[in-house]
Amino acid sequence: MPEIVVDGLTHTFGAGSENPVTAVEGIDLTFESGSFCSIIGTSGCGKSTLLKMMAGLFEPSEGRMTLDREIIKGFSKRRGMVFQQDAVFPWMTVARNISYGPRLRGASRAEQAGIEKKWIEAVGLKGFEDRWPRELSGGMRKRVDIGRVYANDPDVLLMDEPFGALDAQTKERMQSDLLRTWNETRKTVVFVTHDIEEAIFLSDRIIVMSARPGRIRHIEEVALPRPRADEMRLTEEFLEIKRRLWGMLEH
Ligand SMILES: Nc1ncnc2c1ncn2[C@@H]1O[C@H](COP(=O)(O)OP(=O)(O)OP(=O)(O)O)[C@@H](O)[C@H]1O
Ligand SMILES: [Mg+2]
Repeated sequence: MPEIVVDGLTHTFGAGSENPVTAVEGIDLTFESGSFCSIIGTSGCGKSTLLKMMAGLFEPSEGRMTLDREIIKGFSKRRGMVFQQDAVFPWMTVARNISYGPRLRGASRAEQAGIEKKWIEAVGLKGFEDRWPRELSGGMRKRVDIGRVYANDPDVLLMDEPFGALDAQTKERMQSDLLRTWNETRKTVVFVTHDIEEAIFLSDRIIVMSARPGRIRHIEEVALPRPRADEMRLTEEFLEIKRRLWGMLEH
């Protein structure tokens, strides 16, 4: 059963002003429960706009979105978002960052400690519990971001180019780690990227958006077997998908 349904979504920034910008137009999509889906498209095609509306950060000009038939509106613990920019709190240690959401909702100290332990391990930050964000590399801060969202136990993870600023090696390691966590939790993931290879490696399905205003240009089902190992990136099946998608993006 489809978990998220996006129906006729259009968003115009500055509607009624002198310079309105229609960022996305007429988007219809469904995201199956437990699937890993990526959205790719060139810079400015409306990927972040779409994801932020799915997070409930603002409302679309037209159309609607539902999660299990309930209209998506405003913040909800069910929908966790990892933003394009770092969102760790610099004044909290790694552990306090991870347990921020549960603490806000009144979790006991013991519950917080359990959540911190579980997610610090899962995102590979064991031994860094008491460090400050300024003492971490960019990749490690991203791990904190991801751990903090998982610690809220959302049903849906919305991830906006979480690895966009990382070097190639760190990125590949983070992708494999993310897949492992996804496989263990089977949350519904919607992952925005402009990296074709990243999208193929991670996803069950890839949505290709056209340049502004962002519309759905193509949907690619990725039938590559799981679990996926790094070597898969070199297989003919993988490269064939890569070539096809590359040809669809405006360069
Ligand atoms: N708050 C805003 N006010 C006005 N225009 C905006 C706003 N946010 C985004 N836009 C415009 O909407 C369009 C889509 O922006 P968006 O950030 O969704 O693109 P993107 O696909 O995420 O790009 P990138 O890959 O560079 O992150 C752009 O033309 C952008 O200038
Ligand atoms: Mg963006």
